[in-house]
Amino acid sequence: MDVIALDDPTDAQIREWHGVLSAVHGGDPAGEPAPEPEQTAGRLLGGDPGSRQRLWGVPDGGRLAAVAALRLPGAPGTDRPAEIDIQVRPGHRRRGLGRRLLAAAAGGLRADGRTSVIAQVNAGTPAVPFLESHGFECVLTLRGMLLRLDEIPPDRIARLVAEGPEGYRLIRWQGVVPDEHATALAHAKHAMADLAEYEGAPWDAHRVRETAEVVAKRGDDLYTVAALDSSGTVVAGFTEIVVPHDAAGRAAQYDTAVAPEHRGRRLGIWVKAAMLQWLAGERPEVREIETDNLGDNEHMLAVNEELGFRVERESLEYQAPVSALP
Ligand SMILES: CC(C)(COP(=O)(O)OP(=O)(O)OC[C@H]1O[C@@H](n2cnc3c(N)ncnc32)[C@H](O)[C@@H]1OP(=O)(O)O)[C@@H](O)C(=O)NCCC(=O)NCCS
Repeated sequence: MDVIALDDPTDAQIREWHGVLSAVHGGDPAGEPAPEPEQTAGRLLGGDPGSRQRLWGVPDGGRLAAVAALRLPGAPGTDRPAEIDIQVRPGHRRRGLGRRLLAAAAGGLRADGRTSVIAQVNAGTPAVPFLESHGFECVLTLRGMLLRLDEIPPDRIARLVAEGPEGYRLIRWQGVVPDEHATALAHAKHAMADLAEYEGAPWDAHRVRETAEVVAKRGDDLYTVAALDSSGTVVAGFTEIVVPHDAAGRAAQYDTAVAPEHRGRRLGIWVKAAMLQWLAGERPEVREIETDNLGDNEHMLAVNEELGFRVERESLEYQAPVSALP
C-alpha cells in the first residue's frame, strides 16, 4: 500500500476521506463528535487563509485506508510549527500506514523549510504510543470541557451578571471588533501569553480583524463580550464564542483573557456569564458549549467549573523537531 498525494482532492476522494474519519470515529465514539460531510469537504478544499495544507492518503482496493493532513501556517520557512493529523481506519492499524504517512509528511515539512511539527491527540489513545515512538514529546495538556446549557440552574447566570465588579462596564459585538476597540482588544489578547509561543505573530488590530474575518468566511458567527475599565478605552477582559453554521447546537469557546492588572476581580466569570445571557436570547438553538483549557490553567478551570462546565476528555499536544521524524 503506497502513499499518494491528494493535494487537489476530487469529490470521490473527499467522500473517501470522510469515510476514513467516520470509521475512526466509529472506533472511538467517546472522542470528538464525528464531522459532517460538508465540514470535511470545507476543510479539505478551503483550509484557513494564511495557512497552506498538504494532503496524503493510502488507497487500498479503491478505498482510502488512511489519510494525513499537514497544515503549514504562514510563509514557507517560518519558524511557526506545522500541524499534522493522521487517521488510519481501525481495521488497518499496526501495519505501518501511520508511519508511512508521517514519513510523507516529513518530506513535505522539509520541502517547506519547517523545523518543528505539532499534533493534537486524545489522552489514552493509540496516538500517544504512536507519536512517542516517532520523536514527539508532550508539550501541553488540554482539558476538553462541555457546558450543557439546560443543566445550569436558571438564576445562576443572572446572578453572576448582576454581581459584576465596580468600575467596569460590558460591551459586546458580533463579528469583527468595532474600530474604536480594535487596538484595546489586541492588547488584551497579549494577556493570553501562555499560548504566545504557539501563536507566532504578535497581536495587533490588523491580526484581530483578520482572525474574525477567517471565522466569517467559513460562515460561522463570532460573538465577543468585553469588559471596559473606567476609562472606557481599556479592554480589561473579554470572551469569544463561535457558533458554527453547520453544527449550531454546539458552540465553541474561543479566547477568554483578563489583562494581568485586572485579574482577581471576577472579570473572567462576569464576561462569560454575560456571554451566556446574550446567547440565550440571540441563539436559543445553542444547547452546548465546548472549550479546551490548559491543564495547568487553574483559574480558568475554576471559572468554567463554577459556570457548570464538566471535563469530558483530556487532549495532549505533542511536538517533534522535523529532524527526529522518519
Ligand atoms: C495513531 C494512528 C495514526 C497510528 O496508525 P497505525 O497505522 O496503526 O500506526 P503504525 O502501524 O504505523 O505504527 C507505528 C508504530 O507506532 C507505535 N504504535 C502505533 N499504535 C500503537 C498502539 N496502539 N499501541 C502501542 N504502540 C503503537 C508502535 O511502535 C508501532 O510500531 P509496531 O507496530 O512495529 O510496534 C492510528 O491509531 C489512528 O488513526 N488513531 C486515531 C486517530 C489519531 O488519534 N490520530 C493521531 C493524530 S496525529
